[in-house]
Amino acid sequence: MPSADNVSADGAGLEVKAVVKRFGPFTAVDGVSFSVRRGELVSLLGPSGCGKTTILRMLGGLEYPDGGAIILGGNSIEHLPPYRRNIGFVFQRYALFPHMTVAGNIAYPLAKRGVARNERLERVDRALDLVGLSGFADRNPTTLSGGQQQRVALARAIVFEPQVLLLDEPLGALDKQLRDRMQFEVRRIQRTLGITTIFVTHDQIEAMAISDRIAIMKQGRIEQFGTASELYARPATEFVASFIGESNLLNCDVSNTAEGPIAKLANGFAVRAASAEVSGPARLLLRPECVEISSSAADVSNDNSAQARVEEVVYLGESTRVVVNLSGVRLMVRVTNNHLQRVDLRPGGDVRLNWRASDTLILPRESGLAAQPGEAVT
Ligand SMILES: Nc1ncnc2c1ncn2[C@@H]1O[C@H](COP(=O)(O)OP(=O)(O)OP(=O)(O)O)[C@@H](O)[C@H]1O
Ligand SMILES: [Mg+2]
Repeated sequence: MPSADNVSADGAGLEVKAVVKRFGPFTAVDGVSFSVRRGELVSLLGPSGCGKTTILRMLGGLEYPDGGAIILGGNSIEHLPPYRRNIGFVFQRYALFPHMTVAGNIAYPLAKRGVARNERLERVDRALDLVGLSGFADRNPTTLSGGQQQRVALARAIVFEPQVLLLDEPLGALDKQLRDRMQFEVRRIQRTLGITTIFVTHDQIEAMAISDRIAIMKQGRIEQFGTASELYARPATEFVASFIGESNLLNCDVSNTAEGPIAKLANGFAVRAASAEVSGPARLLLRPECVEISSSAADVSNDNSAQARVEEVVYLGESTRVVVNLSGVRLMVRVTNNHLQRVDLRPGGDVRLNWRASDTLILPRESGLAAQPGEAVT
């Protein structure tokens, strides 16, 4: 039966416990813990150099951790060599063997595991069919497009029916359209096989599109782990808020009153915010789509209401991005174009902004983050 956090003990769930990896004096992975449920797809998302590949390499047995445990089906596997782990791997730069045919590439892990020839052929056919490449068996990989090569790498990683699949930025080399299609394909194949999967990316949209849950990483640690909507609606830190989605992050000073927290902005404007654990200097998070923009004559219709001046209007097809100036503080607002009321959105025009206290989050102030677009205008 699944344990409390649903990691099954029968061989399919994966648990990473306080794993550490050092390269000389540098700590690349600094006490990382997370669990992946059986059949779940978890993404590791974070900027370049934060330790994503290093974690995958430790899961696959290509690096050994300096501390912590990796548990698959109730057994510690962190000291096992790769071939004793039953884990499929698609590398960041997927390396197909150029001197072998497509079928030869896919059959390779089966041959290494001593699978008989007839069964090999059958399994290669099934894998080719699953990734949509039936008829490509005898082609040479160098004659394939990027997307087709990527499918071969995927087929090679799943052909021996591993318990866990590790994918390291498998779509990184593809153009946007193909990438979107392949995200869908990877998800379909992963669901068809019900295979526990860890997917590495530094693209937040990709992580949101493909994952059951996402671990946001920063400098060798997991900053927050949750579903896309949890991370978006309730980011625990400024880093998570700025990594997932667009945000206004403003300096503020929080005082807790009987009616809830009040966050005073740099310009003195007092904002009603959702309940906060922080008081004093903090950061206010307001997503651009949570602000309703209407003509300056409109009513005050929410917990927070202010007059502002339009500075910039960018038409983006499905939406319009508007930068407004609220007495010296800049805010970015996003308006869905089919909901766009008859508001004069010309630079220099006056508008009314309304937004809810419950959409206004207070986060601890962090040092060392780059200035955000919403910062006070001096
Ligand atoms: N073999 C190694 N020797 C020394 N340092 C290493 C080694 N492997 C990785 N590192 C360092 O560890 C850190 C994490 O590297 P890693 O490859 O895990 O990052 P990543 O999150 O996958 O980044 P990217 O998105 O660029 O692929 C980097 O600073 C990297 O330089
Ligand atoms: Mg990497």
